[in-house]
Amino acid sequence: MDKHLFVIIGGTGDLARRKLIPSLYDMLAEGGHLGSCVVLGVGPTELTDAGYREMTREALSAAGFSDDDVAQWCDDCIHYQQIGREPATYAALAERITEIENEHDLPGNRTFYLALPPSVFTTALEGLGSNGLSTSDGWARVVIEKPFGTDLASAHELNEAVHRWFDESQVYRIDHYLGKQTVQNLLVFRFANALFAQAWDRENIDNVQITVAESLGVEGRGGYYDAAGALRDMVQNHLTQLLTLVAMEPPVAFEADAIRTEKVKVLKAVKPIDSTDVVYGQYDGYTDEPDVPPTSTTPTSVALRLSIDNWRWQGVPFYLRTGKSLRARTTQIVVTFREPPVWLFGGPEEHIAPNVLVLTLQPDEGFDLHFEVKSPAEDDGLQTQALRFRYADEYGDIPMAYETLIQDVVEGDQTLFVRSDEVEESWKLYQPLLDKTVEPHLYEPGTWGPDANDELPARDGNHWWAP
Ligand code: BG6
Repeated sequence: MDKHLFVIIGGTGDLARRKLIPSLYDMLAEGGHLGSCVVLGVGPTELTDAGYREMTREALSAAGFSDDDVAQWCDDCIHYQQIGREPATYAALAERITEIENEHDLPGNRTFYLALPPSVFTTALEGLGSNGLSTSDGWARVVIEKPFGTDLASAHELNEAVHRWFDESQVYRIDHYLGKQTVQNLLVFRFANALFAQAWDRENIDNVQITVAESLGVEGRGGYYDAAGALRDMVQNHLTQLLTLVAMEPPVAFEADAIRTEKVKVLKAVKPIDSTDVVYGQYDGYTDEPDVPPTSTTPTSVALRLSIDNWRWQGVPFYLRTGKSLRARTTQIVVTFREPPVWLFGGPEEHIAPNVLVLTLQPDEGFDLHFEVKSPAEDDGLQTQALRFRYADEYGDIPMAYETLIQDVVEGDQTLFVRSDEVEESWKLYQPLLDKTVEPHLYEPGTWGPDANDELPARDGNHWWAP
């Protein structure tokens, strides 16, 4: 691993303390690279290096890391710099970076992680760029957290602000779903297994469902969430990422731009979404949440029916749904294959169960392939059974998403990060829906969302897979 400086702008915030510092530490410790990375926390709070080291130790201890290596790393490799809100205050940051790089004999490799509220992304980019921090003697990379814009226009504006100072090859837009091992496994599953690769098209697949269900409500984030809603918070990013990975063509190489180019092609091929193919919901009690206006119509669930207008997927419906306060936390992709062309078993009234592949991305990660068997008891006819694989049975604990992503940033691999055109294509797809007034159906917490969700697959003679 290259020796580098990891600058966390927003270094005292919740994301830094709960996710970034523990993930960074675990990644470095596991690989034996603790000496390669110096951290510079940056924030508006007045703090000394010693104060920030203490905060880092506490964050690591809360995440279960508290041995001698932790204490040593904090003493040797952690620094802090206070900055204000104005881009000009980044001049002090630039000076401090030079000082720290000299002290630690670093070659100028720098990651700038913007762990900030979106309202200050542009100021931070401007601050970095106008103070000469977008280039260096080594490499300079910038990591931008979601949400990347709140609609097409703001995403485009933010891309322009990014490109004013940074080349796209330096930019890492985070969608933490791409850091999940099981999400990455979608590509392996599809392209390393000829059996599935060959069956992955309209000839063999009847429909595809993507469910990202959460059992929790807005959990004190009412202020942010009420302005965002489920379409912006989950669909434009996480569910759309899953959609592109499921539907993309084989890339010419397993390489960042080849993969991202194929994902963009999927987005361009999605037909404009008809508003009759969208169902919004709001859980009962949402408007009583702190910071949510009592008259809010913000949707806390969305279900959609999409069509992909290309040779592979013509005529295959894709059903997407997500929501808060649902019955369980589960992320699943369900691929239902076509029925056999001729049914030899039993009369027409006999139930024909198609083969179904269920990829469970979280929790209980793994897959189940449902198929028909003859039951040994002669009268019982056919029964559905499943081939089952679970990650935990074979591999134990799965690394945290952020750990994978931070490692990729430091190694300069952009495969799991969203490219500028990709983020804009995705917003383009949902913008017409964002422009319309929303009237969500009320649903009871602890259910799978409003009953109206069922109408989307029902129109094609299908139903949601019960997780
Ligand atoms: C975030 C959303 O991006 O993803 C949250 O802002 C949501 O509202 C979270 O709860 C879900 O992530 P995960 O990894 O818990 O499925």
